[in-house]
Amino acid sequence: MMNSFHAPVLVNEVLQYLNCTKGGGVYIDCTLGGGGHSKAILENIYPDGLLIGIDQDIEAIETAKEELKSYIDKVKLVKGNFKNLEEILSNLKVETVSGIIFDLGVSSHQLREKGRGFSFREDSYLDMRMDLTQKFDANILINSYSEKELTEIFEKYGEERFSKRISRLIVIERQKKPIITTRQLADLVIRALPKTKKREKWRIHPATRVFQAIRIEVNQELDALEKGLNQAIKVLEDRGRICVISYHSLEDRIVKNIFKETEREKINQKNYGLKIITKKPIRPSLEEIKKNPKARSAKLRVAEKIISVS
Ligand SMILES: C[S@@+](CC[C@H](N)C(=O)[O-])C[C@H]1O[C@@H](n2cnc3c(N)ncnc32)[C@H](O)[C@@H]1O
Repeated sequence: MMNSFHAPVLVNEVLQYLNCTKGGGVYIDCTLGGGGHSKAILENIYPDGLLIGIDQDIEAIETAKEELKSYIDKVKLVKGNFKNLEEILSNLKVETVSGIIFDLGVSSHQLREKGRGFSFREDSYLDMRMDLTQKFDANILINSYSEKELTEIFEKYGEERFSKRISRLIVIERQKKPIITTRQLADLVIRALPKTKKREKWRIHPATRVFQAIRIEVNQELDALEKGLNQAIKVLEDRGRICVISYHSLEDRIVKNIFKETEREKINQKNYGLKIITKKPIRPSLEEIKKNPKARSAKLRVAEKIISVS
């Protein structure tokens, strides 16, 4: 199941919760990546079912095309943003679907690939776009946002304690020389820390939260998640299920809140609601984390659509 592009997380759990083991049905993988979850779904639904795979990264679409080639007559791959889910489905003339999976964030390929600029482990151009056709990237953000705007995103999307100090130093340094590479930015974050913090043995690299914040802003990840989830709930058929795997608290909070707001008992205007299947999020087993340490922060939430006839 592991491919070198990305090792999928919580695969058996997703298959069970999506009920794909019955065979048939139309399923959507909103975050195709290397096609790991899609392949597992296809192994169960082929040849009666159909899988629609969406990713905004053309490199993911190309890899998944190869990975899923034995099922290709029952696969539709779309390069697009899941925030436009209804439009994507309407172009494919698909009205309702049996199950949907979102596996949020970036793939190992995006993190590892030099030149994509998601990681400070290697020096690279500060890019961080998932959609390579988008103009706005991390370089533009770092060199054009005001000190106040930078502080706000580091606080809001990185929950970074030293936001003010970091944005102050960014603004001073970029006047001398533009900040163009991941290493330049990571070093600058370290320089901005108070002396005692600089000397400490770090549990996580001090630039982790700043990089997360920039990535979220560049790709407008939380806005896309809200839009995508609400549209996903709309297009599900009665008893259709939605699985969302998130990797940090900001994402998980949005999933939890949207599920809660759409719970059946609270719905009065729409003729549908959700039944929450996982009262608490599902976490990977210790065995899975041992095999794939990147799975350690994953949280899976599942809900089922209920359409009322009255
Ligand atoms: C964690 S990876 C998914 C890995 C995949 N489940 C697998 O098994 O290989 C997340 C993927 O979602 C894509 N993605 C993130 N946000 C997206 C969005 N708003 N629209 C479309 N794709 C998105 C990323 O480009 C990335 O390829």
